[in-house]
Order: sequence, then C-alpha cells, then structure tokens
Amino acid sequence: MATIDTARLQELAIQHLWLHFTQMAGFDPDKHPVMARGDDIYLYDTDGNRYMDFLSGLFTVQIGYSHGEEIGQAMLEQAMELPYYTNWTYSHPRAIELAAKLAEITPASIDRAFFVSGGSEGVEGALKLARNYHTANGEPMRRKVIARKIAYHGTTYGALSITGITGIRSMFEPLMSGVRHVSPTNPYRCQHCADAGGCNLKCADEVAEVIEFEDPSTVSMVIMEPVQNAGGCFTPHPEYHQRVNEICREYGVLHVADETICGYGRVGEWYGAIRYEYEPDIITCAKGLTSGYQPMGAVLFGPRIADALISTESMYMHGITFGGHPIVAAAALKNLEIMEREDVIGNVRRNEDYLRDQLLGLKERHAIVGDVRGAGYFWAMELVRDKATRETFNEQECNVLLRDFLSPTLLKEGLLCRADDRGDPAIQISPPLITTREQIDEAIAIFDRVLPEAERRMAAMR
Ligand SMILES: Cc1ncc(COP(=O)(O)O)c(C=O)c1O
Repeated sequence: MATIDTARLQELAIQHLWLHFTQMAGFDPDKHPVMARGDDIYLYDTDGNRYMDFLSGLFTVQIGYSHGEEIGQAMLEQAMELPYYTNWTYSHPRAIELAAKLAEITPASIDRAFFVSGGSEGVEGALKLARNYHTANGEPMRRKVIARKIAYHGTTYGALSITGITGIRSMFEPLMSGVRHVSPTNPYRCQHCADAGGCNLKCADEVAEVIEFEDPSTVSMVIMEPVQNAGGCFTPHPEYHQRVNEICREYGVLHVADETICGYGRVGEWYGAIRYEYEPDIITCAKGLTSGYQPMGAVLFGPRIADALISTESMYMHGITFGGHPIVAAAALKNLEIMEREDVIGNVRRNEDYLRDQLLGLKERHAIVGDVRGAGYFWAMELVRDKATRETFNEQECNVLLRDFLSPTLLKEGLLCRADDRGDPAIQISPPLITTREQIDEAIAIFDRVLPEAERRMAAMR
C-alpha cells in the first residue's frame, strides 16, 4: 500500500473540504484523524492508529467494515450489467428484488418501497406521501405534522421543520408551517412522570391533546423514532407506540416510524416497530439498509396508502434521480443477505443484556453517570453533576466536559463514540451489530479509565 502523507492530506482538507456540522474556524487537524481504512469494528487513521468504532460510522455500519470485497463484487457485477437506470415510470431487477425483500422483513402493514438516497430524503418523502394520501382521500386540509421535542429527523427543509432541536432550526426559520412538537419519552426527566416512579403514558396522551387542539381534520401525520436518538436513546414504555398508533387511527392521522437509526437490527429486530409491536403506516429508513456501503434511503408503506392512491388514480407526486439506483440496490441486497447469513441481529439479541449490564456497572462505579438507557446496540449514559438530585451541567461545563475533555480523550484512547448535548449531556454508544462481548469489555475498560478524570475536572469547576 502506498504511504500516506497525513500532513499533506490535512492541509488539503483544511483548504478544500468543508465538514458537516463542524466549526471550521481554528479547526485542529490533530484532534480530527483522517480515517483511511476499516476492518471488523475498527477504523485506522492515516498514521495507522486504531479506533474501535462504537458509533458505527454514524449509526450505520451494521455489518462492520470487512465486507467490502463481497459487496463490491455485487456492485461490480451490477455496474457491468446495468450501471444506472431510473425508477421514474420504469424499473429494473435490483430495485424490484430489494422492494420484495423489504416487504418480507417489514411489519405486516408495510409492503411497498419507494427508494431515495438517504434519511432526510426519506422524511421529505413521507411528508409528501402523507399529504398526497390525504388529498386522494378527499381531505386535502390535513397538512400538519406532530413530531417530538429534541428529535432529529434530518436537515433538508421539510425534515428540518420536523426536527425538534431549536439550535439547528432557528437560523433557517421560517420553516414549513404546521409542525407541532410533543414530549419525548424520557422517564429520567419527563415533565409527566419523572417523579411518579415510572411512565404513566401521559406523553402519549399529549399527542391526542395536540391533535384535538389543532383540529383533527388538519393533521396529516405523527412522526417518531421507535427509540429517539437525540437527547440520548429515549426508550418508550412498552405500550407507548401502540397507544400513539391507536390515537392516530382514532383521528385518521398517519403514523410514521422514522427508522433511520432503529431499522435494520439496531434495536434487536429488523425494525423498531417490530420490537415495540406496532404497525406504522409509513417507515422511513436509510443508514443500515446498506450498512453505509452505499447511500440509500426508502419510504416504506402499505395497502392503506397504496390502495387510496390506486383507487383514485392519484400519482405520488415525487421522484429522485438516484432513487433505487441499481448499483446501490445491489449493495443493499447483499448487505441484507450478509446480515441474515451471519445472524447479525441474533448477535445483538444475545448480547443486549450483557451490554446493558456493563453500562449499568459504569453507573455504579462512577458518580458522573446518572442514567443508562437504550435497547439493542443503541445506548446512552446521561452525565450529571449530582446523581441524587439529577442536577445537570451548565453550558460552559458541558463545553469543557464534552468538547474539551471527553471527545478528544476517548479518541486518544482509541474509542469512537458520541459525547453530545443536544438534550442533556450524554455519551452515546452504538457499535456495529457484529460487536462481541470481548470488544464491549474493551470499551468499558476505556470508560473506566476516562470517567474519573471527567469527574475531577467537573468538581474543579465549582
Ligand atoms: C432519525 C433520523 N432521521 C433522519 C436522519 C437524516 O438522515 P440523513 O443524514 O441520511 O439525511 C437521521 C440522521 O441521523 C436520523 O437519525
């Protein structure tokens, strides 16, 4: 392999490459390694340093980094046979096969696929499909959307309007009108139940209250992740999504599951909706659909919507040049085949309790870990100043804790994960679904080394 000139690459990056959601002023290349290679669950930078990728890229690389040859071969064969064709009016074998495969593994309410290029496009597609459906149904005034506070649904205009994170929305306002945000499911800090000793499902009732207040005949859809990522893996009460589903049915509103992260095994089933036993009208997905080996997303739906469009001869007024791209579809098919062959979701199920117990061990050993929550291979540790009172850190403390200390220190220790404060400060881990117990132990040992110093630094700030 040719030697890599890291300094030259970093210089070129600073001159020419603009990074996503990154402060480029004073960008320090030493804190941002250039990743050159992947293998199993590990990444290697251009200097050969190894990192355990406990964020799966961006919640994406379900099968890890070692299947490039097999997926690449499927892509090569497809490129030689038919490198590009469209899903506008026409089709091609790989898009058809992938749609049929997805119909096999989705909840019973879903049997159609409309392909796009990523998660934001999936959410945009769901927004438009819901309006299209209601118009076909003779209810064109159903345009409003209910989503949850702190939830991230993407950055394109419609998806950003639905996103519930004030800091990334406000600069781009006015956004799409008619979006309302309700409480997420966070028993640790929930306004309805944090002091009630457990979830009382008032957060689900809030959805009905907002629909009533807005006038049900104006509400198009409710969109929620099965387990909400932003804020730190907010898991639902086992009946929460079923209750929201009932409310949607009652008011004629479409129920959308944004499975961009939860889909494809992340929470121990093909979809979060399967784990939490509800049947959404639309699923949006991306990321794990190809394990990130190619960019792809999808809007998945079923007879309720398809029959309404077909019986009224209505067209879904939407299309994307690269949606269902044959080479990308070939990569997705191969990814799903590998996931089944290697029982990747079985690995998550077998190790979920082990991972949870190790994280709970960290909570016992370290005063700074206030809460541990999550499902499957999707977990967060909320960090607190005072475990007894659940007191959190102020903005300046969060900056020191997360950005100055934890992110660079964990990286130096060879562990990639997310230390974030889009809600209250939390460390999120979301390893590839092939991760073993030994690798979990390795990550836990790193946290055991790093968290005491985080505590010391925070104590010194008061
Ligand atoms: C729940 C959810 N929806 C949508 C998106 C947007 O996906 P993308 O970045 O592929 O546009 C994300 C991205 O992380 C997500 O987590």
